[in-house]
Amino acid sequence: MRDQRFIEQVIEGNNIVSVVEQYLPLKKSGSNFKACCPFHEEKTPSFVVSDSKQLFKCFGCGKGGNVIHFVREMERISFYEALEKLAGRIGLKMKSRSPADVAKQTRVGLLQKVYELAQDYYKDNLDKYGSIPLNYLKERNIPRELIDLFGIGFALNSSSGLYNYLIKNQINKQILEDSGLFVKTQYGVADLFRNRLIFTIHSQSGKPVAFGSRKLDEQTFGGKYINSPTTPIYTKGNELYGFHLTKNDIGRKDSAIITEGYFDLLRLYDNGFTNSVATLGTALTNEQIKLIARYTHNFYLLFDGDLAGKNAAIKNAGNIITAGYTPLIIKLPLDEDADSYLLKKDPKAFEALIDKAQHLTEFLKQDELIGLNEKEKIDFLIDIAKDIVDPISKELFAKSIASAFEINLKSIAAKIRPKKPKTIETKQETSLLDEISKLKYLEERNFLIHLVNRSTLEDEDIEDIDSDLFLDDNYKKIFDTLRSSGYIIENKPISSVLADLEDVDPIQVKALSEISLLELPPESFSSALKDMRIRKYRYDLRIIQEKGLNNELSKDECLNMKKDIVERIRDLSDGVINKTIQRSMDD
Ligand code: CTP
Ligand code: MN
Repeated sequence: MRDQRFIEQVIEGNNIVSVVEQYLPLKKSGSNFKACCPFHEEKTPSFVVSDSKQLFKCFGCGKGGNVIHFVREMERISFYEALEKLAGRIGLKMKSRSPADVAKQTRVGLLQKVYELAQDYYKDNLDKYGSIPLNYLKERNIPRELIDLFGIGFALNSSSGLYNYLIKNQINKQILEDSGLFVKTQYGVADLFRNRLIFTIHSQSGKPVAFGSRKLDEQTFGGKYINSPTTPIYTKGNELYGFHLTKNDIGRKDSAIITEGYFDLLRLYDNGFTNSVATLGTALTNEQIKLIARYTHNFYLLFDGDLAGKNAAIKNAGNIITAGYTPLIIKLPLDEDADSYLLKKDPKAFEALIDKAQHLTEFLKQDELIGLNEKEKIDFLIDIAKDIVDPISKELFAKSIASAFEINLKSIAAKIRPKKPKTIETKQETSLLDEISKLKYLEERNFLIHLVNRSTLEDEDIEDIDSDLFLDDNYKKIFDTLRSSGYIIENKPISSVLADLEDVDPIQVKALSEISLLELPPESFSSALKDMRIRKYRYDLRIIQEKGLNNELSKDECLNMKKDIVERIRDLSDGVINKTIQRSMDD
């Protein structure tokens, strides 16, 4: 369990308006404050901060929550880290945790601990037993400082080395199985990485969250690279290799070199190109692009000179263009990757390549390796153009296609259907909110808006209301949380309820922060409840009807139950029963 009292203290002590203002300028708007949302691109402000409710909410992308959520999103750190930071801001100290407390930590906390211990273990191995891997690194020209800085380690040729180390450190067996660092074999649980060089993948704030590994010789079992899987602390498309060390230089130099592999990144860094990150062999996600875009809008793509590398470059360039930026592609000779090139040439030669980097349109126009003809190249580019949200970026890109391929801008424009910005821009986020389908469950939403605004009901006690009246699971959970959290009885602030919800379900944090910023005339509270009841009874009616049809209920049972429900509906709707309901009685 978390210390809820402590969380409340931190929320109370950190006024959300002054915290948000440290990151972005706020403008007063009615009783709230407004700004352009820091979490998605927008031209008109839909990001709202409420001083009275101590919440933020973006009506464009859907993000919302209390002051801790805000810092978590902004700094891209965990809830716990954000809490720690805000506690520090008001001079509160987090309690240091004893071994007994460690056992009580949440799953995420425990996994984090596992990865930290594993990193120590792999690093230790390199110094104690690492003559072969150290030699390998030496042959590949990786200096000692980089080994330490990036947390490179070594997994012994043992099936239980890491396992025993973690058990010795009081990590429980269940969490080990969830960590993704072990495989099940016929003999039991075994270490995933054996006799491999270990690369630590860090979160943006520098915590180890995953590992990659490379085999050191051909005889070793498995592929050249093996990586740890997705876990509650690691989603592949959300992190970038090296970013925690290079993000500040990316900002300072106002450009980012995006490359593919571990060694490519290490080589770039070693040659002074400290503004680089690696994608680890997968296409850049929107999430990763946004991450980099916080520091710079100048993206340089540096992929292998071969066919696979070129395909990766155009794919990634497309993703970046769609997100509204203009990447440049650095061209490497056919058989080189960043690592091999910089081993042969000096940084000056590489800088000359950077100077010659091309826009996607030119790059594609000149390319002969990928095997597209002129028409296919244009179609490929038009497909990208279609997805660009920002109208100006879209037009600029259309122009660059027209000029590179010497065709009329009009014929390109005709092919690029206009798309409504909002639907694309917030695709991911609204689909989350869709789950809490606004229109379908309008009554429930209205009811919750009243509840959050502490409206009162005549003749009715909130405690007695059956939560089965909610057909939407998310709204139902929010209702239950509001009741059980002390929001109603103890007058607890909504920002602390949001902290409770954090553990249950992040989707609800968003939904509840939205609901909390809305208001309805107080007198409509009882009609919202009535609407919910009527709707629920209608729903029950349908269920009974279905059961009747499937012979799960006898005709008599069915009829009696229906009568009872219709009576209740009649009571609620002043004796007026609509035709559909009437008809259901005759079926
Ligand atoms: N990769 C991976 N899993 C694989 C293959 C590749 O995670 N099965 C990632 C690794 O991050 C790797 C990158 O994709 O560094 C590029 O792969 P590749 O070009 O095959 O390897 P190199 O980085 O060139 O590795 P090396 O120089 O050690 O051969
Ligand atoms: Mn390589």
